[in-house]
Amino acid sequence: MKPERSKRRLTTVIGCVLLGMGIPPRAAMPQDSAPHLRQQGSATQLIVDGKPFLVLGGELGNSTSSSLDYMRPVWPKLVSLNLNTVLVPAYWELIEPAEGKFDFSLVDGLIAEARRHQLRLVPLWFASWKNSMSCYAPAWVKTDQKRFPRSQDGAGRGIEILSPFSKDNMEADARAFAAFMRHLREVDGRDHTVVMVQVENEIGMIPDSRDRSAVAEKLFKDPVPSELITYLGQHRETLIPDLRSQWAANGFKTRGTWEEVFGPGPKADEIFMAWYFARYTNRVTQAGVAEYKLPMFVNAALIRPGYQPGQYPSAGPLPHLMDVWRAGAPQIDFLSPDIYFTNFAEWARRYQQSGNPVFIPEAQPNPVSAINAMWSVSQLDAIGFSPFAIESLEEPVSKLITGSYDVLKQLAPLILEHQGKRKMFGFLPEGPEQRQPLKVRLGGYAMNVAYTPSAAGPGSPTSDVVSGGLVIATGPDEFVFAGTGLTITFETETPSNKTVGLLSVQEGKYLNGGWVPGRWLNGDQTNQGRHVRLPPGRFDIQRVKLYHYR
Ligand code: DGJ
Repeated sequence: MKPERSKRRLTTVIGCVLLGMGIPPRAAMPQDSAPHLRQQGSATQLIVDGKPFLVLGGELGNSTSSSLDYMRPVWPKLVSLNLNTVLVPAYWELIEPAEGKFDFSLVDGLIAEARRHQLRLVPLWFASWKNSMSCYAPAWVKTDQKRFPRSQDGAGRGIEILSPFSKDNMEADARAFAAFMRHLREVDGRDHTVVMVQVENEIGMIPDSRDRSAVAEKLFKDPVPSELITYLGQHRETLIPDLRSQWAANGFKTRGTWEEVFGPGPKADEIFMAWYFARYTNRVTQAGVAEYKLPMFVNAALIRPGYQPGQYPSAGPLPHLMDVWRAGAPQIDFLSPDIYFTNFAEWARRYQQSGNPVFIPEAQPNPVSAINAMWSVSQLDAIGFSPFAIESLEEPVSKLITGSYDVLKQLAPLILEHQGKRKMFGFLPEGPEQRQPLKVRLGGYAMNVAYTPSAAGPGSPTSDVVSGGLVIATGPDEFVFAGTGLTITFETETPSNKTVGLLSVQEGKYLNGGWVPGRWLNGDQTNQGRHVRLPPGRFDIQRVKLYHYR
C-alpha cells in the first residue's frame, strides 16, 4: 500500500474506533497541522492553521473560569476589548477530582464558548504548582502526604509546596496532564482553538531558598548531575552572565556537589532547586506532548530589587536561571515573564536572551500596557502579550487596551510579515530619563521620535495619557506608523547635503489585509510637511512616503 493511502486508511480506522467511543473523528487529524512554532529570521512565531498568529491576549483572574455561568457575561467583554486569545486556567483539582476519573466538562464548555466568540485559548495548567504553592492539587493528593510528599522547612514541617523530588508527585501530575492533552487532541485536534499551553504557574521556592526535607538534603550533597555539567560545558561561552560568573567564581568545576560547583549559599540552593523543578516540569510536559504536541511554556514571578533566593519565589524560570531550565526542561519551548513592575522593557528584554522567544502571559493592566503590547510585538518580535485579570479592566485601561489591540489586529499580518527581519521598531518611553526624542535608523533614514502625550501637566485629568507605538519599513521610502502621542521628524541616515521631506502622509485602516484610506494629512496636521504626528488620546495608523531634496 502506498504510504499516503495507508495513512488515510489508518485515519479512517482511528476515526471509526473513536466514533465507537462517542468521540468525533476529528480526533484523528494529522498532528503536523497542529499549532507549532516556526523561525522567521531572528523571530520565533506561533503558527496556527498554517499562518503566523499574533496573540492579542488577556489572562482571566484565577477563579473566573471555574464557572461557565460566571463566564457568560465575560465573553462579550473579552470580544469588545479586541482580544483574539484568552489565557485561561485548567484546574487539576476540577479535572481529576478522584484519581483516574477525569471530568472535562468545564474545559469543553470553555472551548465551545471560545469558538462561539471566535477566540483562541491558551490553557494554564494549574497543577503541582501555582505561585509556588500546590493549592490546585486535587484533594486526594493534598490529603495523602505520605504518598505525595511536600517540601519541608528547617524544622521538618511540611509546607504547601509539593516536593519536586517525589516521583509519585511527578507521575500523578504527568498522568493528569497527559489525559488533559489527549482530550484536547480529541476535541480540538482539528479546530485549533487551543494554540499553546502553559505548564504549571509561577513555579518557585519560598520562604526558604531550598527544600530541607531528608530527600532534598541527600540530593543536595550528591554530585551535580552530569546532564547539567555537560550542558554548562557545551554552552560555556554563551551562558547567561549571572550563571557563568557563579560557575567561574568556583573555577568552572566539572564535578562536585552543588556547593562545590556553584559555591555555598542561597545561589547554589536556587540552582539546585531550579534543576529539580525543571526536571519535574519536563517530565510532565513530555507526557503531555506525547499525546498532543502543542507549543509549551513556563512563566516566572519576577524578583523585587534587593531580594535574595527564598525571599522571592526562587528557582523558577527566571532570567539568571534560563540555562538551568533549558538544560533541565528541553521539552519546554520558551520561558516567559509575568511583568508587574514598571521597568517592563528591562524585564522583557532579559527574556530575549540567548534566542528565547518572547511571550508575555501576564502584565500589569495599567495604561502603559497598551503601549507595552505594541512595543513587545515590534521591538522584541514577541509572540504576543496579555494583561492579567482582563475581565476586570475598567476605564481608562480598558479603553486604551481596546484601542491598542484594534490597531494591532489590523496590523497583525504586516507585523508578522516583518518580524525577525529588523524592519520594525517599537517606541516606549521607558522612564523619565528616556523621554527625550529617540533616534531610530530604519530604511535608510534617521527618525527622531518625540513622546508628546499631551500638553496637560501632572494632576490634570488627561495627564495619564500615554504615548508610544511602532514603525514598520514596508518598502523603499515607505513606512507604516502606529500609536499615539508621537511626533516624528526625519533626516538622512548619515549626515549629507540632502534634506528629507514628506511626499505623502495618509491615515487609514487595514480591513481584511487591504488599506482603506482615510484623510490625506498635510498642512497643520504635518506642520506644513515638517513632521508626522500621531495625536494623543487615540490610536492611529498612518502610511508615510519620504523623499530627498537638495
Ligand atoms: C501572578 C499569578 O501568576 C497569577 O495567577 C495571579 O495570582 C497574579 N499573580 C495576581 O496578581
